[in-house]
Amino acid sequence: MAIRIIREEGDEILRKKSKEVDEVNDKIREILDDMVETMHHYNGVGLSAPQIGLLKRLVVIDLYDDKGPIKLVNPKILKQEGEQEVEEGCLSFPNEFAKIIRPAKVTIEALDENGKKIKIKADKLLAQAIAHEVDHLDGILFVDKIIPGTLQYIEPEENS
Ligand code: NI
Repeated sequence: MAIRIIREEGDEILRKKSKEVDEVNDKIREILDDMVETMHHYNGVGLSAPQIGLLKRLVVIDLYDDKGPIKLVNPKILKQEGEQEVEEGCLSFPNEFAKIIRPAKVTIEALDENGKKIKIKADKLLAQAIAHEVDHLDGILFVDKIIPGTLQYIEPEENS
């Protein structure tokens, strides 16, 4: 496992559309493991493959609850319901936070790390995280959806 470099604001790859994964093999499992390690290292709740420079439809999410890290291959939103106004950030925009509108509930279909088809019904933070990460796979970023006037810049902590 390895911590990968996170692509940040302004990197063109964040605006590209990712490709479907044909086969869930050891190489894909290794990428997913690296994505989980990278997400944990930066204390994120979600990470998509384009954020580490790979245009593949791969997402990891961890709400640090009993569900543990969730690894999704080719996630597809089948249904979304309602709205929630949420506070949001992104590991590719380390100092920016804003309010945005996300679906209140989403139902998705994906493959797990063994290539098995799974379906997840999510609400609250999990619905938000899934919607955010699936957007990344289509080059859509949370800054595209900011409620006007709610963007905040937080200065990074100086450790040196
Ligand atoms: Ni993000």
